[in-house]
Amino acid sequence: MAFRIGIVGAGGIGHIHAAILAKDPRVTLQTVFDVDSARAQAMAARFGRQPARTLDELFKESDAVFVCTPNTTHEEVATQVLEAGKHVFCEKPFALNLKSAARLRDRAVKSGLVYQVGHNRRFAPVYKVLKSAIDKNELRPLSVHAKMNRGELVNPPWVWDASLTGGFLYETPVHMFDLMTFFFGKVDWVEVAARAHEHGELDDFSILLGFQSGLQATMKTFAHSSWHFPFERFEVYGKHSTYETFEMERISFTNGLETRTTTYDFSLATMHEKWGYVEEDRLFVDALEGKSPAPVTADDGYNVVELIETCYQSAREGARVHLGALVKKT
Ligand SMILES: NC(=O)c1ccc[n+]([C@@H]2O[C@H](COP(=O)([O-])OP(=O)(O)OC[C@H]3O[C@@H](n4cnc5c(N)ncnc54)[C@H](O)[C@@H]3O)[C@@H](O)[C@H]2O)c1
Repeated sequence: MAFRIGIVGAGGIGHIHAAILAKDPRVTLQTVFDVDSARAQAMAARFGRQPARTLDELFKESDAVFVCTPNTTHEEVATQVLEAGKHVFCEKPFALNLKSAARLRDRAVKSGLVYQVGHNRRFAPVYKVLKSAIDKNELRPLSVHAKMNRGELVNPPWVWDASLTGGFLYETPVHMFDLMTFFFGKVDWVEVAARAHEHGELDDFSILLGFQSGLQATMKTFAHSSWHFPFERFEVYGKHSTYETFEMERISFTNGLETRTTTYDFSLATMHEKWGYVEEDRLFVDALEGKSPAPVTADDGYNVVELIETCYQSAREGARVHLGALVKKT
């Protein structure tokens, strides 16, 4: 029997998941709830379903719930889903501060239900090539540089408001923090310099990350550059090897000094595939079936929140801060 999926939040990312899930024969897109009932109605109609009038109604009709609501609501809505005994897929960010992240992680673990965080970049083909090269020891990272810019904090209209996003680092750069630990392991310390240019929030970060392995990475992220391509990029260097990503369109690498460069170009794939959404949803359904555990866990979500909070702390103090220092304080 197909798993019944309910979607909470009929906005941009809710539509993306709905479109992907509608193609998976293992699930039924059961119903949608949104505080804006017209949005819920429109999305449900698009998939030939009826909207739910309340969250409870959605829970009654669902085996698993996709939480696709704004950042500030994730802990509250995901907690309600867990309390209703339903499996959770919740969009990033996992939470917006350490206490909230610890509460949610503990509830998720205790529930024994599937809990997956929407760090889709892990499943983007370019990043899978990079991860596979590291796992197979074809690339032994010795030095890393990454950037993640935004063109503006104008669209959507609330994206400039730190009280709604949690701060710029919780916006798109959150993905880079997840990828950093996914590729290179645990971070030991960070040193961060940051400035505010617009809207009174820190929106320009120069970040130095020291990993437990000894590897060091730099990361630059600025909120108001332009949409000049590529606004997202990793450069990873090993001994006489360079791997370079260009958005989620392609990855090029050269292994050795006198050799050729290989490029994998994914530009013809659909955006849903290129950005990793198709695979993350497939793996969530695999986890519902018990085939494999959720690939991005509540623990992973917590670790990203801790890393971001440690970056903000370092920026405030103008000093190196070790991971774990904030946990001791709270
Ligand atoms: N993983 C990714 O690549 C990615 C991409 C975009 C957005 N996101 C994340 O997804 C979330 C939603 O982003 P979006 O761009 O779809 O936003 P959006 O504004 O387009 O949609 C959010 C929807 O949630 C509804 N909503 C608000 N509060 C609600 C509540 N308490 N209960 C039910 N519905 C509620 C709104 O009415 C709206 O329809 C954000 O947390 C964002 O960070 C992730």
